[in-house]
Amino acid sequence: MEESHVWNERLQLGDDDLDREHHLQIALVTGLTEALERGRPLVARRIVEQLSGYTKAHFAGEELLMELAGYRHLEAHRQEHQAILAHIEEIRYLHHQGEYDLAVPMAVDLLSGLASHIAASDRRFAEASGRVPPIGATATGS
Ligand SMILES: [Fe+2]
Ligand SMILES: [Fe+2]
Repeated sequence: MEESHVWNERLQLGDDDLDREHHLQIALVTGLTEALERGRPLVARRIVEQLSGYTKAHFAGEELLMELAGYRHLEAHRQEHQAILAHIEEIRYLHHQGEYDLAVPMAVDLLSGLASHIAASDRRFAEASGRVPPIGATATGS
């Protein structure tokens, strides 16, 4: 019955580097939610620390790619990243306070928020920068 993590076609952008990082991000949030739900605070604490550091690094890398590409929606994208990081910090704080019951719904929200960000905003950048073909385009083109 164990599900490693939630992943679906919408999250798969077609860019190997970004997809690999998104896989890990989603896996960490899924693992965090499960650890909180199962009452494993020590595991949850380790995961939330990993998630925080990894997400900062991923976002910084993505923003650098956007800067290099002269992406015109960089500022809006950066604000979405800031909101996700604030969300993670809030979970971290709740966990630190021992408020595990409050942290669970926050982690569930984080998972859906992060998935939406990847499927919509990260995809928009990947398509606009030519890293991946637009959705619906044939995969055989160059
Ligand atoms: Fe992003
Ligand atoms: Fe991303």
